Amino acid sequence: MSTMRAAVITAPGGPDVLHIQQRPVPALSGPNHTVRVRVVGSALNRADLIQRAGHYPAPPGVPSDIPGLEFAGEVAALAPGVTRWQIGDRVFGLVPGGAHAEYLTTHEDTLARVPDTLDLHTAGALPEACITAHDALRQARFAPGDRVLVHAVGSGVGLAAVQLVRALGGIPFGTARNAEKLTHATALGLETGFVPDTSADGHPSFADAVLAATDGRGVDIVLDLVGGRYVHEGVRSLAHRGRLVLIGLLAGRESPLDLSRVLARRLQITGTVLRARPLEERIAFTQAFAQEVVPLLADGRVRANIERSFALDEIAEAHALLGSNETTGKLALRIAD
Ligand SMILES: NC(=O)c1ccc[n+]([C@@H]2O[C@H](COP(=O)([O-])OP(=O)(O)OC[C@H]3O[C@@H](n4cnc5c(N)ncnc54)[C@H](OP(=O)(O)O)[C@@H]3O)[C@@H](O)[C@H]2O)c1
Repeated sequence: MSTMRAAVITAPGGPDVLHIQQRPVPALSGPNHTVRVRVVGSALNRADLIQRAGHYPAPPGVPSDIPGLEFAGEVAALAPGVTRWQIGDRVFGLVPGGAHAEYLTTHEDTLARVPDTLDLHTAGALPEACITAHDALRQARFAPGDRVLVHAVGSGVGLAAVQLVRALGGIPFGTARNAEKLTHATALGLETGFVPDTSADGHPSFADAVLAATDGRGVDIVLDLVGGRYVHEGVRSLAHRGRLVLIGLLAGRESPLDLSRVLARRLQITGTVLRARPLEERIAFTQAFAQEVVPLLADGRVRANIERSFALDEIAEAHALLGSNETTGKLALRIAD
């Protein structure tokens, strides 16, 4: 076993630049504590599409042309010093790239054990959405009873956030441009959903509706997966001492901001990325996921929301579908049977 099948970005561009190629199986040389995983299940994320288009290069030391941020599989080989795992253990987690391939290597402490109740194809579609939502809630100092507004609530991250907030004792609200996605999210625990109104000036408006739905008080936390003008409205939606965590920029990089509101209400705005974090922080968010989220996955209080599953050979079709904005939840990728 010296080569493996991998999805490869052959040039910056559309889904047709993705080809399945043979690549060397990643070596175990390098730092101790490295584990090689045979990948069974994975899933797509927006970052894969942005990387494919040439706008989101992989961090140093990560395969530059093999996309894929999340995986579930079996431990296949151990470097010296690994104490946590044995060959054959079922694990899942995040890598900064290279998961859309039959094998990957990662530090042993960046892996969590897959509960017996989950198959590896389902498990492969959970880490990115769950860790993104969980880590953002932690950064926002979420506490039971908090009201949390989640944008793009029908996205992979959005649906995971709704379930997590509900399972942890909070009250999830959400926005989506497509009302059917709000219906889907409501079945998973969404309290109230809003379709942003763009009829006045073309810009999304939802803050007045959020304030009306929260007795004029506003929400404690906004998980902003969209950016752009959503930030302006998100700030208007926040209660006194509210926190907005900026997670995505689908609607753009710029927004007007009412600074008097930020100041007078003592608001906090935080930006976050998972992919570029140093190893210590990757270990920390993985361990927090293992301790606080995996038990919720094990007993089904938080579930994978897989709209459709694709074979690795069908990755170009999967990229095109995710880019259409028509999906609700995750598109899974079957790397092996
Ligand atoms: N910071 C991080 O570390 C991190 C990690 C993971 C994900 N993310 C970000 O989180 C977001 C969700 O990721 P995902 O993979 O879960 O997404 P996804 O499943 O692909 O869903 C994205 C959804 O966003 C909505 N959307 C797209 N363009 C929009 C626009 N211009 N205005 C408003 N809504 C728009 C669409 O739903 P509707 O049309 O129904 O609104 C679309 O279906 C992305 O921005 C992604 O980059 C960030």
